Amino acid sequence: MANEFPYKASSDRYSQMPMFYNRCGKSGVLLPKVSLGFWHNFGDDAPFERSRAICRYAFDHGVTHFDFANNYGVPAGSAEANFGRLMDEDFRPYRDELFISTKAGYLMWDGPYGEWGSRKYLMSSLDQSLKRMRLDYVDLFYSHRYDPNTPIEETLQTLVDVVKMGKALYVGISNWPLEPLKAGAKYLKEHDVPLLIYQGRLNRIDREPITEGILDFCKGEGVGFIAYSPLAQGLLTDRYLEGIPADSRMAQEHFLKSERRTPELLEYLHQLDEKAKASNRSIAQEALKWVLDQNGVTSVLVGASSVAQLENNLQTIF
Ligand SMILES: NC(=O)c1ccc[n+]([C@@H]2O[C@H](COP(=O)([O-])OP(=O)(O)OC[C@H]3O[C@@H](n4cnc5c(N)ncnc54)[C@H](OP(=O)(O)O)[C@@H]3O)[C@@H](O)[C@H]2O)c1
Repeated sequence: MANEFPYKASSDRYSQMPMFYNRCGKSGVLLPKVSLGFWHNFGDDAPFERSRAICRYAFDHGVTHFDFANNYGVPAGSAEANFGRLMDEDFRPYRDELFISTKAGYLMWDGPYGEWGSRKYLMSSLDQSLKRMRLDYVDLFYSHRYDPNTPIEETLQTLVDVVKMGKALYVGISNWPLEPLKAGAKYLKEHDVPLLIYQGRLNRIDREPITEGILDFCKGEGVGFIAYSPLAQGLLTDRYLEGIPADSRMAQEHFLKSERRTPELLEYLHQLDEKAKASNRSIAQEALKWVLDQNGVTSVLVGASSVAQLENNLQTIF
């Protein structure tokens, strides 16, 4: 169905799924159990009206948390820029109902100030993100990766300062190893900007946050945990059971290589499919449920290339 204008959000967006929100650690923030990620499918390489339909469907079904990074989309930055347009055209009246995050850490522009963890890079990047998204502030700003060559205090003080300056309401850490994470959480607490959330890759195949003790640490400290790539970029779905669809992420041979589609994976998927069918679930739902069942997980951060995929993922909660 074509998108209608002007957009009016569904009036029962908060009543369809009771118990849809989890408290984020020991903070005042509630996050939806399923959040929407903008890494793929929202850049200039994706059909804009499809991106709009996915965003509307998400918000109409209580998905209040949208997750970005400076470099999301092809070209880098285009996911934020396209969302900026959607803010103006659809979501401006709902700004206070949205929890919008962005990050900086990976390569975004040329030269010595375009990546990692310096104050120079993080401050400039956040300003650029705000401009692209046409926002006055983000709800959550992350350090996207640990920088072993920048003093940890410089990165962390920048996180404190973006909150004090009103550019972000909360701060998060993504992909940091456990020891710097511990030091980071301590520093932020001592500077009155407690760490809200950790973002790490967690799914049935990739379990490092569990094996490395990160999830336990977050739980113990009252820090939320949001799991990215909970479907292992689509591996843990029915997408690759019969081959590699031309419109799939694997067909692009970039972030998800076809060598990941091994006989062992296929055997595992068929087993998962059996298990899922026995409970009337899809493979994706079975995979998401596993992540949400891990003690300490606040939300799963899914990607979707269609409204139907997002719908299927949201049904995990019923
Ligand atoms: N902090 C970090 O370093 C980091 C890193 C990666 C991701 N993230 C965040 O996490 C978000 C999600 O990452 P991700 O896209 O890798 O997550 P994912 O949910 O593991 O994978 C999403 C892909 O799985 C497929 N899919 C989704 N639902 C499906 C369903 N019900 N049935 C069949 N296939 C389905 C789609 O693939 P097709 O596109 O092939 O249809 C979709 O693009 C990102 O957008 C980003 O916000 C953060």
